[in-house]
Amino acid sequence: MKLVSERLIIREFSYNDLDDYFEFAKNPNVGPMAGWKPVPSKDVARQILAKYMLYKDVFAICLKENNRVIGTMSIYDTGLRKYNKVKQLGFSLNYDYWNQGIMTEAVKITIKYIFTKTDCELIEVGHHSDNYQSKRVIEKCGFLYDGRLSKYKKLYDGRLIDADFYSLTKEEYERMRLNERTKA
Ligand SMILES: CC(C)(COP(=O)(O)OP(=O)(O)OC[C@H]1O[C@@H](n2cnc3c(N)ncnc32)[C@H](O)[C@@H]1OP(=O)(O)O)[C@@H](O)C(=O)NCCC(=O)NCCS
Repeated sequence: MKLVSERLIIREFSYNDLDDYFEFAKNPNVGPMAGWKPVPSKDVARQILAKYMLYKDVFAICLKENNRVIGTMSIYDTGLRKYNKVKQLGFSLNYDYWNQGIMTEAVKITIKYIFTKTDCELIEVGHHSDNYQSKRVIEKCGFLYDGRLSKYKKLYDGRLIDADFYSLTKEEYERMRLNERTKA
């Protein structure tokens, strides 16, 4: 998979990305908001990249200008729903790049890829209820609110969190695209 937008490329990981990946994944501001522990060492980072490359469900978000990895985009086959034409998204971004519209750009090209190149009929996404920036990215990409799961998960650090979930069907996506084109 290789997706291209104005500033970004989303592609598979390679071991050449180890330093860039470790650089942002060790930052305590990033992982905990998405429910994962900051990556403690380069060795652990290498093992994580090995899994991403094997399962091909987590991809590298890179800057087009220099191929530097600044984030991850997860496209999981299994989500909350008991229906197989569903994908679940997850994402994270290097702290130095927050609030520049980068993840919104990355999620939008990922949605387009999923609905035009796979047989997926619905994309679901969620965030911890206090993760307001993730909520905003999800809203800006056109997802509709499904609801809150109270006491959704106990995290690695003992926090018991509520989570909010959203979805976008292929039909809703196509309607949204049509409206955008009509307005333009
Ligand atoms: C969530 C995350 C990916 C967002 O990436 P990003 O590139 O900064 O997102 P964008 O710039 O596209 O959009 C961020 C939006 O949140 C808003 N925002 C930022 N901090 C906020 C806060 N504390 N409260 C409310 N809104 C906030 C920004 O103003 C922006 O909205 P706007 O365009 O309407 O002004 C990034 O913060 C991150 O990696 N967080 C840690 C991991 C994580 O939470 N992953 C998601 C798991 S579900």
